Amino acid sequence: MNFEKRSDGIYENTDGGAALIKKYVHPLVLKSASGSCLTVGNNIWLAPLAGITDLPFRLLCKQCARMAGGGGDDAPGLVFTEMISAKGLHYKGNNSILLAESEPEEKPVSMQIFGSEPDIMAEGAAILEEAGANAIDINMGCPVPKITSNSEGSALLRDPVLIEKIVSAVSGAVHIPVTVKMRRGFEGEKETCVEAALAAEAGGAAAITVHGRFREQYYSGKCSRDAVKRVKEAVKIPVIGNGDIASSRQALEMFEYTGCDGIMIGRAALGRPWIFYSLLNEDFRAPDPNEIYRIIKLHIEYASEHMGEERGMREMRKHLAWYTKGMPNAAETRNRIFKAATAEETINIARECILRNV
Ligand SMILES: Cc1cc2nc3c(=O)[nH]c(=O)nc-3n(C[C@H](O)[C@H](O)[C@H](O)COP(=O)(O)O)c2cc1C
Repeated sequence: MNFEKRSDGIYENTDGGAALIKKYVHPLVLKSASGSCLTVGNNIWLAPLAGITDLPFRLLCKQCARMAGGGGDDAPGLVFTEMISAKGLHYKGNNSILLAESEPEEKPVSMQIFGSEPDIMAEGAAILEEAGANAIDINMGCPVPKITSNSEGSALLRDPVLIEKIVSAVSGAVHIPVTVKMRRGFEGEKETCVEAALAAEAGGAAAITVHGRFREQYYSGKCSRDAVKRVKEAVKIPVIGNGDIASSRQALEMFEYTGCDGIMIGRAALGRPWIFYSLLNEDFRAPDPNEIYRIIKLHIEYASEHMGEERGMREMRKHLAWYTKGMPNAAETRNRIFKAATAEETINIARECILRNV
């Protein structure tokens, strides 16, 4: 599935990778510290993305598989909320509580928490469990100074002792599995993910996701599969490989090279929420314009229903820009959509522009 752009601007899968990754796709069991297990249907997951993996988008990624009607694979196997502040939950901040909204159709859902104080994080995790989380993920990857200056996010990678304390406190406060998502390292090019992963495992983590970049790289430059491989070789719990997976060939390479137990996809799902379904179902056929229109319409409906029409349509703008990227009339479509006030108007413009060339 090498997404190549067709003349109508839609990406089509052309390589043979999808058929080959089938042997790496399987359910994954995540064990909680208290001994209960969460079995997720498959090991291809939607990454946490701040400002993007909100409830409407998570529902949509799940629903794409159902709409395509392909063989029961409920892609992706696990979806993640964006990072939620433990302190925000502690002080009962509205924003934090809103980010923890979930629906049965997206389950299982993992809610991601960030912070640096074990007690506050444990309390926050318990609130997220109460709100419906099926798993808790601890953020040890965020590179943004506003977060790292409080010793949160990727800054935790400097301190394995604190990592073990945090994971242990959070695991002890909930009955669901606790996972950790980390980068390669915090300072310069000093790789600390192996020590960090061992500390997380000792604290009771059920799985570790590794994004093979240093904090200073943010989201550019080389993403190291070797870092994922080294963590995989060091720990006994499942390891999820993350970073720059946008085709089945890249998914295959991550599985084959690192021996990882699952993969996580973030940016490649923007404007392509069907990527999980395509990977899991060896679906070489790109969605046709009618299907893309149906997916966009559903996304607009979810956004309107769960966020209210005004905020929902504001949030939809970036998604619509991603959906229409590369299409012949993308700029015009974007301009018109950005001016649309209602969900109905937005749907009508999307229909007109996307189906115009059919
Ligand atoms: C806009 C944006 C927001 C992100 N927000 C989060 C977040 O809230 N929590 C987190 O652990 N990682 C976050 N990430 C990192 C992604 O989850 C992922 O690790 C990274 O993008 C690499 O994977 P990809 O190449 O598949 O996108 C974010 C990345 C981007 C681009």
